[in-house]
Amino acid sequence: MSKLWGGRFTKPTNKLVEEYTSSIGFDQKLALQDIKGSLAHVEMLGHCGIISNEEKNQITKGLHTIQGKIENDEVEYSVADEDIHMNIEKLLIEEIGPVGGKLHTGRSRNDQVATDMHLYMREKTEELIELVGAVQEALVTQAEGNVETILPGYTHLQRAQPISFGHHMLAYFWMFERDKERLQDSLKRINWSPLGAAALAGTPYDIDRQMTADILGFEKVYPNSLDAVSDRDFILEFLSISSILITHISRLSEELILWSSQEFNFIELDDEFCTGSSIMPQKKNPDVPELLRGKTGRIYGNLMGLLTLLKGLPLAYNKDMQEDKEGMFDTVDTLEGALALLAPMLSSMEVKAGEMKTAVKEDYSNATDIADYLAVKGMPFRQAHEVIGKIVLYGIEEGKYLLDLSMKEYKQFSELFEEDIYEKLAPDQVVAARNSEGGTSFKQVAQQLELAKNHLYE
Ligand code: ARG
Repeated sequence: MSKLWGGRFTKPTNKLVEEYTSSIGFDQKLALQDIKGSLAHVEMLGHCGIISNEEKNQITKGLHTIQGKIENDEVEYSVADEDIHMNIEKLLIEEIGPVGGKLHTGRSRNDQVATDMHLYMREKTEELIELVGAVQEALVTQAEGNVETILPGYTHLQRAQPISFGHHMLAYFWMFERDKERLQDSLKRINWSPLGAAALAGTPYDIDRQMTADILGFEKVYPNSLDAVSDRDFILEFLSISSILITHISRLSEELILWSSQEFNFIELDDEFCTGSSIMPQKKNPDVPELLRGKTGRIYGNLMGLLTLLKGLPLAYNKDMQEDKEGMFDTVDTLEGALALLAPMLSSMEVKAGEMKTAVKEDYSNATDIADYLAVKGMPFRQAHEVIGKIVLYGIEEGKYLLDLSMKEYKQFSELFEEDIYEKLAPDQVVAARNSEGGTSFKQVAQQLELAKNHLYE
């Protein structure tokens, strides 16, 4: 059988053109969605009397047969048939004869491909929501075991104030919570049905778009046929959400890499998630978080690719739009792989509470607390800040931390110092003092943990 659109042509397609314009190499991923869309369409055609009941049954049966063959990997696609839509239509006609040609009544590949992508995006978005949830579970578990584990908190990557490790884990929990919300919200727009918009202008057949939308589980039909076939916002939105999500994964990965270095030594990733060096036998490399961090580039690239592709495209379908798929597939695959690894890697990582504690003792991250101490005793905070700055400088010169200074040394800087300063400077106290809402005190972190669990298991 020649090309489905061959009637108007007097010459066969140039082989290079055939290969260049074909998308079957990648859009075969949409095979099952394509059949699902076709089954809904043919059901509607029968219901509306556009084809006979007998024809509808024959086509439906044929589509099911092809679906079975695809699921069993028994189908061979052909580049000459360009894309998944025409490959399946051709297989259908081979399977049931010329009546198969009635399937394409009242639709076009333009609304067909858009429908397939909406179906694909819905399925994958729901899967990704689950996978993000699994990462959040791992974070909650680590947080729960480490509410009272203290480590230095940083700003500018300089020791700033001690914080609870549980608090740090929960910071990522909320970042992923927003990602999940964004994915969930996007489903509203993914669930618009383009089917029945036909090529661009609608169709003279008396079709029922609401019926196909209902069968396919879409919440509404696109009110404008031009918009329906031109719109790729739902993919852009997915790629934007994915870019933010991979940014979060990358920041977390960066911290895991830093923390597992000998310089920090705050965590140890399980052997299962690390690899060795082919030359340096002592090495245990954090390859997984490094790759997770590295995957960010391709996801941003996919977003930039589609934004650039769409900018300046006139309505409605243009062949450029065939380029919308590989970036979408790649982003889905990349995220699925990343999230599936991140969850078990987090659950199995060893948190070195002792090392973290030692680090906290060996720094000046309790300096703000002495300033607060003097401020509470009446000294203006700005002046207290200055005094403590001098104390820190003195400590650095003398090789002493703030807890090591004697009362006599403290008194040299201010008469307001008394014995209770030592208690105030202990790491537990410093953390406990930050009991404002959302702060790092153990009490606040325990409350936050409950809130996180409610979100996760609600
Ligand atoms: N393979 C095409 C794509 O993915 C399907 C739509 C083709 N429509 C057309 N009028 N050429 O974009």
